[in-house]
Amino acid sequence: MTGSGKGTVRGIVAKKLGFNQLDSGVLYRALALVSIRKGISGSQNLAAAAACLHLKMVDHTVFLDGVDETVIIRSDEMGKAASIVAQIPEVRAALRGFQLSMRTLPGLVADGRDQGEIFDTRHRFFLEASAEIRAKRRVEQFTRMDLSADYETILAEINRRDESDFTRKVSPLKIHPRAWRIDTSNINAEETAEIILAHYGKPF
Ligand code: DC
Repeated sequence: MTGSGKGTVRGIVAKKLGFNQLDSGVLYRALALVSIRKGISGSQNLAAAAACLHLKMVDHTVFLDGVDETVIIRSDEMGKAASIVAQIPEVRAALRGFQLSMRTLPGLVADGRDQGEIFDTRHRFFLEASAEIRAKRRVEQFTRMDLSADYETILAEINRRDESDFTRKVSPLKIHPRAWRIDTSNINAEETAEIILAHYGKPF
């Protein structure tokens, strides 16, 4: 699953199916945090750090080396830092095995731009929404976490990130040719999850 509001939708779909979940962005965010804290730089060093990330995700909570680091890992700053380490091919390769190992029975709902390529599956979904709607959702998400959020700043950041995500050289955001595209601008997470579950239940 790729696209806007994917985290909430992933949670609902996984719960309904009784499947495990993977928020693949957390891997890049956690690596960014480790690299900042330990002063790690250079592709090889970052890839080595990626290969020994000690991460555990329980619902929305993220434990890094056994410590709950959810708030910092989910912060906008770490999102920005993650987008930089995510551009390093060695880092992406080092995190691949971790992602594949998460696919255990009874099944996995994974989100992130490259999940449709990493996992061999018939069930791929691309969630779309306007930048304005995504900014509004992000403000609501921050507010729920008791963090301050300025709509205009977040909107500008989303537009800047979209531009760099679609145009960057390594792993640019591409819509998988076999993904179902779902416009979520005017529907909520529950309704989006229902569409996905309906597609999932259909014979191919
Ligand atoms: O989805 P997110 O905001 O948690 O992602 C954080 C950054 O990591 C973002 O710049 C996209 C990048 N990312 C990636 O390159 N590949 C993934 N599978 C997931 C996230």
